[in-house]
Amino acid sequence: MDIIEAKNLFYTYEGEASQRYSLEGIDFRMKAGEFVVLLGQNGSGKSTLAKHFNGLLPLQQGNLYIAGLDVRDPANLWDIRRKCGMVFQNPDNQFISSVIEEDIAFGLENYDFPPEQIAAEVHKALALVGMAGFEKKSPHMLSGGQKQRVALAGVLAISPEIIIFDESTAMLDIQGRQEILQTIQQLHQAEHKSIIHITHRMEEAVLADRIDLMKAGRIVASGPPRRILADLPLLTSANLLPPLPVRLYEDLRNAGIHLAECPLTIHELTEQLCRLS
Ligand SMILES: Nc1ncnc2c1ncn2[C@@H]1O[C@H](COP(=O)(O)OP(=O)(O)OP(=O)(O)O)[C@@H](O)[C@H]1O
Ligand SMILES: [Mg+2]
Repeated sequence: MDIIEAKNLFYTYEGEASQRYSLEGIDFRMKAGEFVVLLGQNGSGKSTLAKHFNGLLPLQQGNLYIAGLDVRDPANLWDIRRKCGMVFQNPDNQFISSVIEEDIAFGLENYDFPPEQIAAEVHKALALVGMAGFEKKSPHMLSGGQKQRVALAGVLAISPEIIIFDESTAMLDIQGRQEILQTIQQLHQAEHKSIIHITHRMEEAVLADRIDLMKAGRIVASGPPRRILADLPLLTSANLLPPLPVRLYEDLRNAGIHLAECPLTIHELTEQLCRLS
């Protein structure tokens, strides 16, 4: 059994009579522990798809199972939300309390955690994201990266198996982004969480086990980063700018300079260039 099994999903925001679909026949499967990046231009349907996975949007057409739970059955909704947590773009919109420990505790109370365990769980979640010691502080006093890590702690506290990051690095500077990316990789590698990361940044997409490329409500390609990101015509047809090293590889090739392999990162590009001399 895969942790996510979606078959032939259709979704429209405009009511049953509309023919304008935001999702149009999506098949998506994900193994437990996998790290999938959803790529696609604005409006291609990434958030709409992700919001199906934790029950934020109702299933209109198709079949969807999260950890074996049928999303169509309203009795499963609570369990599905617990299995699949989501971190959004703007950390300021994700807090309901002005004290960090209360904010995280609120989520735990919602899921009926025994009150005597809550303080320990809050501390554990903050430690996981490197924010232990901030329990009594206000989320509004933190930097963007710290806020995003606290928002993530709130999600982690309820021990989800799947964590979706919907452009959670988009508003952060380079340091904040690195903090979140390191946390994502740690959750993937050490905690064996299943990760869906939605991003426009090619250097983040490189980190995935698999990239699913969306265009106009469909998944138009799915495969390892090395295949998807090096495919210039594919990315161009999805209105995406290929990673800089891939563009340089092509430019060099057109100028008669042939690198042995198409590099995906600056580091790989440097290695290939060094081998030329
Ligand atoms: N709340 C909404 N009401 C009506 N239409 C919506 C709503 N949210 C999204 N849409 C439409 O659904 C389509 C897919 O939007 P979605 O937000 O899923 O795209 P996305 O790939 O996440 O884009 P972005 O990269 O901008 O976040 C778009 O055509 C969008 O206009
Ligand atoms: Mg989106």
